[in-house]
Amino acid sequence: MATFEVNPSPPLVGEIEIGTAKNAVLPIIAAALLTEEPVCVLRPPQLSDVRLLCKVVESCGGRVHSAPDKLYIEARQILSPTVEDAMRRMRASVLVMGPLLARTGHARVALPGGCAIGQRPIDLHLKGMAALGAQVSVQQGSVELKGRLRGGAVYLDTPSVGATENLMMAATLIRGETRIENAAKEPEVLDLANCLLGMGARISGAGSGTILIEGVDALHGADYQPIPDRVEAGTMACAAALTGGNLLLRGARAEHLRALLFKLQEMGLRATETPGGLRVRGRARRPVEVRTMAYPGFPTDLQAPMMVVACATPGTSVFLETIFENRYMHAAELRRMGANIRVENRVAVVEGGALSGARVQSTDLRAGAALLLAGLCAQGVTTVEDPQGHIERGYEAIEEKLRAVGAPIARIEGASE
Ligand code: UD1
Repeated sequence: MATFEVNPSPPLVGEIEIGTAKNAVLPIIAAALLTEEPVCVLRPPQLSDVRLLCKVVESCGGRVHSAPDKLYIEARQILSPTVEDAMRRMRASVLVMGPLLARTGHARVALPGGCAIGQRPIDLHLKGMAALGAQVSVQQGSVELKGRLRGGAVYLDTPSVGATENLMMAATLIRGETRIENAAKEPEVLDLANCLLGMGARISGAGSGTILIEGVDALHGADYQPIPDRVEAGTMACAAALTGGNLLLRGARAEHLRALLFKLQEMGLRATETPGGLRVRGRARRPVEVRTMAYPGFPTDLQAPMMVVACATPGTSVFLETIFENRYMHAAELRRMGANIRVENRVAVVEGGALSGARVQSTDLRAGAALLLAGLCAQGVTTVEDPQGHIERGYEAIEEKLRAVGAPIARIEGASE
């Protein structure tokens, strides 16, 4: 199990290279199933979620090959995946559904996350596929979709990122025009559309609430460099705000981080766009109100790191989580470090004060990174246990990147109690 030991940090100073976005790479790997020709992802991040989705793609008949700074996926022949375990461990694996269905007229995928539809739903993916002509049946923890799809209109009740991506991918290869209304506007959706355009798809409106896709007979291969990871960049900006640092986040795109930067600036941080990225400096000194929303609102994936900043900043901060109903699990761990956080349903009220080191456990990906940050501004030693490897699902070498800018943090491989 991975365990991290974190000591109180001086101000973080220096440069951090921001990696390629996990949430952009995953749908692009799934999109490679739409063509017989190889798709090459440039500068893929070394993350366990990426490796897991590659396993799913291989179980679909795709071949995956890594070269330095390149990941090739070639899917000459495809079938429905048999790696049910991987499907259940990672929600993003549902993204193979659209490509499989569009290319073969059949897809059988395990329900992700081990949860039934309704509790952690993929109902919008399924409703959308049904609107395009798929017959959908659910049996024994799997969903089977069949049929030759045709273009049509789909309205998403909520602008789900995954459902938008799945439907957009499926629509690239089907006869006629598809219109996705109330589509997700996240930069990763636009990035997937750009990759699909490079593969010969006809798409307009991606990045807005209405996406139009004109189906084509076949897509071809492409080399594609996905966008930098805005969540990694945002997490590092929070680390700067906590320690009173001065960091150049190389490659970070300020335009993808507006909501976070507005909020950190309200708290006292200074942020400047530079030709190579984004510079953040200063310390958070004032409390904040944060409401998570679909893009361009404040990202739910940065709620946990931002809560740590609020914990260390004098005054009362308030959080409203509107995207996921159970996303305050880090609050209990932060309380073990002396944080004063009250949670009532979707609201968390944080009274800023001093944190003290403790042994805490990573409960999910973003919560794990948040606990590392908390250790940087706590008194004494913080030990962050990550028995399920949540942190490396989405952050590449986070401890090395933080250490290089002065954070006293170490990863203790294979440590137990
Ligand atoms: C993606 C991101 C994740 C981020 C989330 C929200 C990837 C791989 N993951 O996840 O990091 O936290 O967007 O920005 O890109 N919903 C339904 N029915 C559905 C689908 C979703 O009710 O069929 C609900 C979800 O339960 C959730 C909300 O819609 O409450 C948003 O989910 P969605 O945008 O689909 O998130 P993901 O694509 O899974």
